[in-house]
Amino acid sequence: MRPHDTQTSSLYQQLGGEAGVQTFVGALYFNLLNDEHLSRFFADVDVARVMHHQEVLLAELLGGEDTSSGLVLAEAHHLLILSQGLREWHFDVLLRIVERTLKDLNVSSGLTAAVVARLSAKRRAVLPLK
Ligand code: HEM
Repeated sequence: MRPHDTQTSSLYQQLGGEAGVQTFVGALYFNLLNDEHLSRFFADVDVARVMHHQEVLLAELLGGEDTSSGLVLAEAHHLLILSQGLREWHFDVLLRIVERTLKDLNVSSGLTAAVVARLSAKRRAVLPLK
């Protein structure tokens, strides 16, 4: 199989399956929790729980079978928008952290761009327009 062929292999598989996605999520959270703009959102959250959910969600998102409903994402972030000031630019920061995390893990730029595009498509689910 060609390693970066998004037609024949899901992004999930290309990232190394369950083990690869776990490594990615672990590194992503380390970077999120150390980011000057985003760390405050995670201050009072059970990080182990969120990591697990994020892993399941990413597996779904990246597996091609995108069954995660917009409603679930909207609910998960509703209070953050209302009471903690979660805004568009935070979403952009997150995408940049995802990009940097994958680069640090030596993931190819093509695969990185594909992962960022897939997450980027969830913007309106996480941050619905009023
Ligand atoms: C593509 C973008 C995003 C996806 C796919 C995503 C996914 C999720 C999911 C599925 C949950 C639910 C976890 C659970 O119920 O245990 C969650 C929770 C959370 N997300 Fe996101 N998220 C995204 C963007 C963001 C951004 C930009 C921030 C802000 C820095 C953020 C901060 C949080 C926090 C703090 C929680 C925990 C809320 C709580 O349980 O009180 N997320 N996210």
